[in-house]
Amino acid sequence: MVKVLSIVGSPRKQSTYKLIKAVTEAVAKKGNVETELVHLSDFDIEHCTGCDDYCEKTGECKIQDDMQKLYPKLKEADVLIIGTPTYYWNVTGLVKDFIDRTTPFYYTESLKSKMGAAVAVAEEDGQDLALSAISSFFEIHKMKQAGSISIVTGDKPLREADLEMAKTLGKKIANELMRV
Ligand SMILES: Cc1cc2nc3c(=O)[nH]c(=O)nc-3n(C[C@H](O)[C@H](O)[C@H](O)COP(=O)(O)O)c2cc1C
Repeated sequence: MVKVLSIVGSPRKQSTYKLIKAVTEAVAKKGNVETELVHLSDFDIEHCTGCDDYCEKTGECKIQDDMQKLYPKLKEADVLIIGTPTYYWNVTGLVKDFIDRTTPFYYTESLKSKMGAAVAVAEEDGQDLALSAISSFFEIHKMKQAGSISIVTGDKPLREADLEMAKTLGKKIANELMRV
């Protein structure tokens, strides 16, 4: 059984959510896949405080908040799909805080070799930089990258073609999983 953890980094349940849902469902179609979708905004995640290298010494984060609920999910996942709206040509603060708080796993190499995929949505511009931030996160954690998509909406609702792109990414992830 392959476990897919999908992360929605928008505070809203709109474009990013719909795209991440489409990617996730397309992966699940291959069968033998367990999926879980997490809205970061449902979790109370504080900023990394850059404390005194507690996580480097212990492999754990000393901040007792909802990130503690996500650590086991991340550890168990084989695939991590992260979606973000583009905010100021970057990921949202929700995603950045989440990324920063995975630092214990940097020291324990807990995400190493897991598969990552990314989705970025923008109204107009900056989506590639948002994708690049997520791709760097995967790289720093020594993860494998299955692919990514960026969608520019022009402040319009998602088109069928956008959802098709999401499904294609999902199929690509599924195909990568069959190869490993
Ligand atoms: C604070 C903020 C910053 C934004 N910055 C950008 C930006 O730099 N480039 C862009 O094209 N759209 C920007 N947007 C628009 C969002 O990326 C866009 O509306 C996106 O579709 C929202 O995704 P969601 O529907 O999943 O929440 C910004 C929106 C907000 C609220």
